[in-house]
Amino acid sequence: MTHTNDAVHPAERTEHCVVVGVDGSDSALHAVRWAAPEAQRRGAPLRLVHVVHLTPVRHPRQIPPPPEYEAALLEQGRHWLTEASQAARRAVPGLAVVTDLRAGVAADVLVTESRDAQLMVLGSRGLGGFTSLLVGSVAVALSAHAHCPVVVMHSAARDGAPPTDGDIVVGVDGSELSDAALTFAFEAAAARGVPLVALHTWLDVTMTGAWAVLPGTVDWDSVRRQEEKLLAERLVPWREKFPHVEVRPLVVRDRPDRALLEHAGGAQLIVVGSRGRGAFTGMGLGSVSHTLLHHAECPVAVARTDGT
Ligand SMILES: Nc1ncnc2c1ncn2[C@@H]1O[C@H](COP(=O)(O)OP(=O)(O)OP(=O)(O)O)[C@@H](O)[C@H]1O
Ligand SMILES: [Mg+2]
Repeated sequence: MTHTNDAVHPAERTEHCVVVGVDGSDSALHAVRWAAPEAQRRGAPLRLVHVVHLTPVRHPRQIPPPPEYEAALLEQGRHWLTEASQAARRAVPGLAVVTDLRAGVAADVLVTESRDAQLMVLGSRGLGGFTSLLVGSVAVALSAHAHCPVVVMHSAARDGAPPTDGDIVVGVDGSELSDAALTFAFEAAAARGVPLVALHTWLDVTMTGAWAVLPGTVDWDSVRRQEEKLLAERLVPWREKFPHVEVRPLVVRDRPDRALLEHAGGAQLIVVGSRGRGAFTGMGLGSVSHTLLHHAECPVAVARTDGT
């Protein structure tokens, strides 16, 4: 069920595309408007995918759908894809856009898509009716399990333009995945010509009060200087590779999630690794990334090395 315009040959499929999951929601359209200029900057085709779940509902037992059921779902999917490609072309006239209507379970199909994509972009919410959730299950699943970086766009008004002002903020904890975040963030800052705030925090306890039981002999100034040195050393290879990016290293004595949220306030994008230094790897997404995904108001990029 692949539908293309003339600009993209179907054979290009997912490979190296910027892929957006489209489900007819305002949030997904917002993702399309962010992804269109991003695809243009990367010289990549934009691929819009809608996954339609054709399996009949089983509640409380298998109910055979009326014959028009499947046709109606497919027709609705085609409509949403047309609407999304129009939004993409309004954002970037002449952009190469391909649309694909797929059958299956949305998270599964999109995770498979992410194997060949260079970037996945999703809305934070979709059409799911459980309104108190901050981020929907498909966006969470992709952030945790995609094979490529994922950008999650928080909702905006239907015609609201994605943010283009403000710095890019990246969280640095010295792990392999925060190196992936640095690469993503430096590339993003270089492509946009905006400053990059590299934020490192060094209070890895959840309760500040926990320090009260420790002897009061810690020389916090020297710890801070040491952490500043570590951050500066960590940034060297990227500074050499991206000499034109203005880097603002920032070392903060705070919890990483709280400090990052605070600095994400005026940012146009915040970048984190899918996980940090935490040993509990079964979740797919570390706790800092999870908090940012749910609470940051700006777009959140979750970077990873494949398979992490
Ligand atoms: N069927 C789908 N096909 C393609 N992309 C989808 C689909 N469903 C969701 N997405 C993508 O994921 C984003 C988040 O939607 P998600 O489904 O996670 O939230 P929700 O509908 O609010 O919650 P839930 O589905 O868990 O009740 C959407 O903005 C869209 O980018
Ligand atoms: Mg949904």
